[in-house]
Amino acid sequence: MVNMQVDFCGIPFKNPVSTASGTYGFAIEYGSFVPVEDLGSVTTKGLTLQPRQGNPGIRVVETPAGMLNCIGLENPGVDAFIQDILPRMRDRLAASDTKIIANISGNTVDEYARMAEKLAACPDVALLEVNISCPNVRAGGMAFGTSCSQAAAVCQAVKGAAGQPVLMKLSPNVTDVVEIALGLQEAGADGLAMINTLMGMVIDVDKRRPVLGNVTGGLSGPAIRPVGVRMVWQVAQAVDIPILAMGGIDTARDALEYILAGARMVSVGAAAFADPLAPMQVVEGLRAYCEKYQVAAITDLVGAAWKEDTGGN
Ligand SMILES: Cc1cc2nc3c(=O)[nH]c(=O)nc-3n(C[C@H](O)[C@H](O)[C@H](O)COP(=O)(O)O)c2cc1C
Repeated sequence: MVNMQVDFCGIPFKNPVSTASGTYGFAIEYGSFVPVEDLGSVTTKGLTLQPRQGNPGIRVVETPAGMLNCIGLENPGVDAFIQDILPRMRDRLAASDTKIIANISGNTVDEYARMAEKLAACPDVALLEVNISCPNVRAGGMAFGTSCSQAAAVCQAVKGAAGQPVLMKLSPNVTDVVEIALGLQEAGADGLAMINTLMGMVIDVDKRRPVLGNVTGGLSGPAIRPVGVRMVWQVAQAVDIPILAMGGIDTARDALEYILAGARMVSVGAAAFADPLAPMQVVEGLRAYCEKYQVAAITDLVGAAWKEDTGGN
């Protein structure tokens, strides 16, 4: 029997696998076709203070080993989430103890704090994941995640209002990710989520125009995994707070790279578009790996690649 349970920011998760924000809706859309209750947690689509329609024009395009998106944070807004969606998520997930992580995005520091305050009154939300790194929102989204002082300002404001532990979601579109991570730890972040998408662009050579309506978009999928693993490796050795890792996780072996690099939990993102069962298969694959190598607890593997005796072969 492998112990798959993970303590993350003081919260017990039955296993270390979540869905990545924006790639699984609110997890209830799949109805009874997908056993989301087998996951340790699900992460919501990015919520904003007001409802958003997202960007016009083409929003997704496939790229080699990945995809670009510029959805633009289409969502019903935090109030509609609390009133209409969260109760349905609770009904579906509470009995199986699958936790809910709410992902939030703001145009201003104050907006982040107001959303955290509203969600503080929701005991069904286990953790807040604060997106300071979405590259698709023209007003400020990028600036927060790429500046140490701005990122810290958001973190402090959210911490001041939040009722749940706060994960700050890092942008990979920076020169020194460790500097930002250390600044967020100092600003009071309880944990880090990483990585968000890498900024990219595709041009239609026949039309001689950018493919995406927003011109640029965020790159996700296996193409970004080596970047994510490298960043988790660097950050995990520099900070004392736990990491929820994502970026190109399709299989359990991909998730293991992140765990061995120092992540305590993992999220499956774009892979779920091709196969909605991918996150559950990651849970089963992690369990099978532990059985094969006689690892008693999944947490024994956290950071094992940079610790002296890995026990691997
Ligand atoms: C279509 C799409 C929408 C996304 N929306 C959000 C979002 O609302 N908030 C957020 O923090 N990240 C969002 N992301 C980023 C993912 O949560 C994840 O960090 C990123 O895609 C890397 O993981 P992956 O390669 O497994 O997809 C989105 C990604 C995709 C592909």
